[in-house]
Amino acid sequence: MQVVETDIAVIGAGGAGLRAAIAVAETDPGLQVSVVSKVLPMRSHTVAAEGGAAGVVRDNDSLAAHFDDTVSGGDWLCDQDAVELFVEEAPRQLVRLEHWGCPWSRTPEGKPDTRPFGGMKIERTWFAADKSGFHILHTLFQTSLQFPSIKRYDEFFSTDLLVDDGRVAGVVAIEVRTGEIYVFKAKAVIVASGGGGRIFPFTTNGAIKTGDGMAMAYRAGVPLKDMEFVQYHPTGLPGTGILLTEGCRGEGGYLVNKDGHRYLQDYGLGPATPEPRNKAMELGPRDRLSQAFWHEDQKGNTIQTPYGSAVHLDLRHLGEAKINERLPFVRDLATSYMLADPVKVPVPVRPVVHYMMGGIHTDIDAKTPIAGLYAAGECAAVSINGANRLGSNSLTELLVFGDRAGRHAAQFARDAGKADNTQRVDAQAKDHVQKIEALFGREERKEKTAELRRTMANALEEGCGIYRDEARIQATCETIADVRRRTAGLALQDRSKIFNTDLLSILELENMLEIAEAVAHSALQRKESRGSHQRLDHTARDDTNFLKHSMAHYQGTQTPTVDYLDVVITKSPPGERLYGGAAEAKAKKMEAAE
Ligand code: FUM
Repeated sequence: MQVVETDIAVIGAGGAGLRAAIAVAETDPGLQVSVVSKVLPMRSHTVAAEGGAAGVVRDNDSLAAHFDDTVSGGDWLCDQDAVELFVEEAPRQLVRLEHWGCPWSRTPEGKPDTRPFGGMKIERTWFAADKSGFHILHTLFQTSLQFPSIKRYDEFFSTDLLVDDGRVAGVVAIEVRTGEIYVFKAKAVIVASGGGGRIFPFTTNGAIKTGDGMAMAYRAGVPLKDMEFVQYHPTGLPGTGILLTEGCRGEGGYLVNKDGHRYLQDYGLGPATPEPRNKAMELGPRDRLSQAFWHEDQKGNTIQTPYGSAVHLDLRHLGEAKINERLPFVRDLATSYMLADPVKVPVPVRPVVHYMMGGIHTDIDAKTPIAGLYAAGECAAVSINGANRLGSNSLTELLVFGDRAGRHAAQFARDAGKADNTQRVDAQAKDHVQKIEALFGREERKEKTAELRRTMANALEEGCGIYRDEARIQATCETIADVRRRTAGLALQDRSKIFNTDLLSILELENMLEIAEAVAHSALQRKESRGSHQRLDHTARDDTNFLKHSMAHYQGTQTPTVDYLDVVITKSPPGERLYGGAAEAKAKKMEAAE
């Protein structure tokens, strides 16, 4: 076992982790930062983000409008103090990236361009063609290299947090290349390890997104907040789940059913005519678009593919030049994976699990209830996303709250000494190490990791999909509990130390099952419909009983308990979510009344 003494450990080297590390280094170059990441930084899932990052920059836009879109998009489950802070800080963070070299796409005058995005009523999404995540991550990565105090531990799989007496003391990790176990003793730890979309069978999320950081914090005693809110992105490629960015619709793409009909006009998202395009339709929020797909499927209006029902994303009218300039990656993906060149033919797409609104409970400074422990990015619920995140808010979120996590962790590490009782911390580290080593000692292999994982993922899709009801969620809870019990029957086939992906798969499955259980139990107890959580047996939003964050608490081998926390409302009382024609009609009525 190797011991590394550091000031701050950052778990994850994606957008939030790198932004946090840079913030620590800028705040105090004397603090040692260890960035511990399961994969090389440029393989972190931020790289897969396509469409862009939201921030007010246009003259016709305002912080108030970004706030309103975010809060109504989140079906009023967002903490409004966090959203206020977020929209105000967003443009500064995006300009900061610009100064660090991020190649934003430009207007003819040479200013950063913006494109429309779903649920945003004004164009405010900064983009770098359709590879925004790649460019943002690359910018952060190369910026991080200039700070000698940042030391990276690439391909280190973090397994457990060390916590003593209500205070974080470090993290245990396996060096994947050698199998050696490392204990990072730290004054503060920032979890920035991304979401856990891989608990579902069909997702845009890369294979690495198994919710490891969420599970670690949860086991250490931090509640997971709002886990029932899982976002389906309306346009994934059937089969692979690869994302075709909302930027396709931002640039003017249509969604049509099997009859070539722009069906979203039938779902309260605005009229299809007259052109030019109205303000919602394909640019409605993701929850509404995914729900509309479900209804079209029920009505038999979808097309059938070998990978399930789909609708068509039609970009042909945009023309080859625009597609090549704004959506080159989309053209490449659709052509390679669906043999459908969007310049020539419509591309089959369907909703796919994309993002978890819920996560590690933090306050607006990214602080968790454990002293010295911070979280930022998709693994955290601060919460600006409420019941449904708006596309392009998450890249900005990881900048705003990654930065905040870094600055606050730096302050904490400067003020705090090391954890009080090093003997207890050492004993705890030893326990975690023994738990990992015990897996090598298990002889009889009664279960297969992949099968258990498939059972879990299918159960989640069945019970916690776009529409849910009591009986199906209950069945999902039971299946997950059963699969959790059966993990005791897993044993390693590969007993070597080097790149033991067999071992990692078991540890990832244990993490996934823990967060899956939090998702299902939180969904079971929320007896209302809000945002991405739609219950066929409780169809209305219920602000009297459920204008609250759910908080799932880990109970070891028992099922989690769920209690509730009030939502912070500062200036926008819960109202009706209006898009397209309905929103325009209301605006006209208000204008007339004035
Ligand atoms: O469609 C997209 O490009 C996704 C963006 C996001 O999730 O923010």
